[in-house]
Amino acid sequence: MNKITIAIDGFSSTGKSTVAKQIAKHLGYVYVDSGAMYRAITYFAMQNGIIGENYFKVEDLIAQLPNVNLHFEFNKQLGFAEVYLNGINIEKEIRTLEVSRFVSKVATVSQVREQLVKQQKKLGQNKGVVMDGRDIGTVVFPDAELKIFMVASAEKRATRRYKELLARGDKVSYEDVLKNVEERDFTDTNRKDSPLVKAHDAIEIDNSDLTLEEQFNRVLELVNTTLAENK
Ligand code: DC
Repeated sequence: MNKITIAIDGFSSTGKSTVAKQIAKHLGYVYVDSGAMYRAITYFAMQNGIIGENYFKVEDLIAQLPNVNLHFEFNKQLGFAEVYLNGINIEKEIRTLEVSRFVSKVATVSQVREQLVKQQKKLGQNKGVVMDGRDIGTVVFPDAELKIFMVASAEKRATRRYKELLARGDKVSYEDVLKNVEERDFTDTNRKDSPLVKAHDAIEIDNSDLTLEEQFNRVLELVNTTLAENK
């Protein structure tokens, strides 16, 4: 059977990565979390005094980009690939609310996007990939055989994210998480370069009231139909 490319885009915390990982595992495909790459560059910028509470030295970040080396390594135990920055596993560090607060700003920088999109295209060049993000169906893989656009209410998304952060032991308030979700929605959809939009040929799934199982089955149905069409 021919391998296809599956692009999953949508707002933050819509559960894109959860379903993308499940589908990749089911098909034996590679899963790529493109958001992790933007988060890794953000973490790099935070570590190097490039972005902080009241400042963002964009020119410094652009100058430093050649020093940012990202790669993924599959973790058998976890069942997905973890992100490495200059040889160091930073999978845990990039999931904090602090990184979430700055990442959308970093993702507005065209030079950052250019570097990451190039890398993402390479990761998917042999097909058999499930990639999630904001511009996968529009910019990275405009020819993907299957494009899914995930949406859910901001409150539902914030509740999910809040529970995740609490489970990790992070001390956060629900209000701060909701504010972050809403701010990222705004920045992601209003940036000049590759804003978050639904590709004209993407299929929208609102998972506000779907269980994980229902969501998986809905996506799997779409995958199977697409695979049959691309035999
Ligand atoms: O999927 P995520 O929440 O981990 O993504 C973090 C941020 O990275 C998100 O707010 C916007 C940005 N992003 C992007 O601009 N393009 C992508 N393909 C993936 C993420």
